[in-house]
Amino acid sequence: MTKPRVLVTRVIPDAGLDPVREACDVDLWTDELPPPREELLRRVAGVDGLLSLLTDRVDDELLDAAGPQLRVVSNFAVGFDNIDVPALTRRGIPGGNTPGVLTETTADLAFTLLMAAARRIPESVDYVRDGHWKTWGPMLLMGVDIHGATLGIVGFGRIGREMARRGRGFGMRILYHDVHPATPEDEAELGATRVELDELLRASDFVSLHVNLTDETHHLIDADALRAMKPTAVLVNTSRGPVVDPAALEVALRDGEIFAAGLDVTEPEPLPADHPLVGLPNCVVVPHIASASRVTRDKMARMAADNLLAGVRGERLPTPINPEVYDERA
Ligand code: GLV
Repeated sequence: MTKPRVLVTRVIPDAGLDPVREACDVDLWTDELPPPREELLRRVAGVDGLLSLLTDRVDDELLDAAGPQLRVVSNFAVGFDNIDVPALTRRGIPGGNTPGVLTETTADLAFTLLMAAARRIPESVDYVRDGHWKTWGPMLLMGVDIHGATLGIVGFGRIGREMARRGRGFGMRILYHDVHPATPEDEAELGATRVELDELLRASDFVSLHVNLTDETHHLIDADALRAMKPTAVLVNTSRGPVVDPAALEVALRDGEIFAAGLDVTEPEPLPADHPLVGLPNCVVVPHIASASRVTRDKMARMAADNLLAGVRGERLPTPINPEVYDERA
């Protein structure tokens, strides 16, 4: 029996590649950089399954290039703003993502950024490396306190809630904003109080973003939002870059409207090394690594493989992003 043909757009951990290789005829893109668009459109033609990354745009053009035999698109990420979901659903193609397994690892990184920005860790490391450390300085590299501060969480889904748990561990007061209120039981368990976004921005010492990127959340943190924050506040973004207006953030950090920022995600992504945000001492930028622990990336790979294999076999995906595709088939 001929094996299903699949395209895997980057090298992922063996935990996911091995089972895919066993069951499928795999075209694996092995470069460090994503396949250029033309290459992607060429390689996707005729495949039964696509294992995509958040750097691959999956839209009508790509789905047309793939052809009508395509049975599944499995995204190696929890976020799927790179995928035009209605375009998939219109064609009856299920898409999959990797929710749950990266929740805690992502919250760990969000809290790492919070602490690094608050206590000026990258600046301090550079200070030592550059040979400036001469003595214990009473005025040296002072940051802001984390313990006892107010943590404002925007987007109270899985990752936002894990962030709340970490904040509680540091004795922080937890505020959150989400269009869907948590249950009173969850609020009580997490010690979290729901407030409007304006109030959260005004009252928080730390604002951490955990929303999906949608039309509503695009540039949610703009110049007005940043002006509403305390001059001592720290902004943390591990959601998607375009949730924050980068030009407004640059002004806010440069002019002291807020104290610091910690960014795992940026607009654009990657952020060029000569981008003004990279040069600001109070902006800690890391290259979209929130889920990058070995264990978590193995789990994501396994999950992406499970979705891909279920799809090529015509079975229901374990974690579909468009479950409505199954209703329409029924
Ligand atoms: C990473 O950003 C993801 O969505 O998994």
